[in-house]
Amino acid sequence: MSEHQPGPRAEGQRSPKKKVTTASLRRMKQRGERISALTAYDHLMAGLLDEAGVDVILVGDSVAMVVQGFETTVGVTMAHMLYHAGNVSRSVQRALVVGDLPFMSYQVNSDEALRNAGRMVQEAGVEAVKVEGGRSVAGTVRRIVEAGIPVMGHVGLTPQSIHKFGTYQVRATGPAEAEEVFEGARALEDAGAFAIVVEKVPAELGQRLSQSLSIPVIGIGAGPDCDGQILVSHDMLGLYTKFHPRFVRRYAQLGDTMRSAFEHYVRDVKAREFPSKDESY
Ligand code: KIV
Repeated sequence: MSEHQPGPRAEGQRSPKKKVTTASLRRMKQRGERISALTAYDHLMAGLLDEAGVDVILVGDSVAMVVQGFETTVGVTMAHMLYHAGNVSRSVQRALVVGDLPFMSYQVNSDEALRNAGRMVQEAGVEAVKVEGGRSVAGTVRRIVEAGIPVMGHVGLTPQSIHKFGTYQVRATGPAEAEEVFEGARALEDAGAFAIVVEKVPAELGQRLSQSLSIPVIGIGAGPDCDGQILVSHDMLGLYTKFHPRFVRRYAQLGDTMRSAFEHYVRDVKAREFPSKDESY
């Protein structure tokens, strides 16, 4: 064997993981492989998600509520999103990184939308952007996609419109709204969206959308038959506990773990038990 030929892989050495792209997500749908997606807003969390094999990392505008302390997602700005998206994309090697376009960064007109989508890609390093809305944003989605930026749609419960709807309750429970959501998703697909998030709708609608669209449908509270699932990481880790919607499965209770570690530290400092001799110079 020449010294330039690759030798047998060392024990425990992993093969390099293949980058997730919009095309590979579509292939996953075609072969029936479920897509896993979670949110991240910082470098450390994004790196952990990537190492765990999460397919899509969304820098969600949920950062407003779970990190920044706003009551809703409408307070987060383009500047904030660029900052968080940059932290995330510098950390990720395999997952597809999607950046949320925040409230009022794409609704005014498609020129502004395109400019802001471009900033997310060029300045923050994301590979795709997400916008909320159905038919009303389809023209804007087309414009951004034509410029070469992949767009993920978001229908059903659209938290940026909270003041219009006044509630975070399950959406599209009646036939008229279910049809509106369905047609909105179809309009996004026609406009060139590469995937669609559908939030908090009956499982039947999640299934219908996944079966009818050729692009991946990623559910959050939209039942088990979607092509993929997304959750807000701070919710599934038990870090953000203000609300606990039915669709959030808690995989850890990190808030409790962290609080008890902080309390332990305070006790140790007060009791002069920290630092010890070994922790001193
Ligand atoms: O901002 C966000 O985290 C989202 C998810 C809930 C899909 O849009």
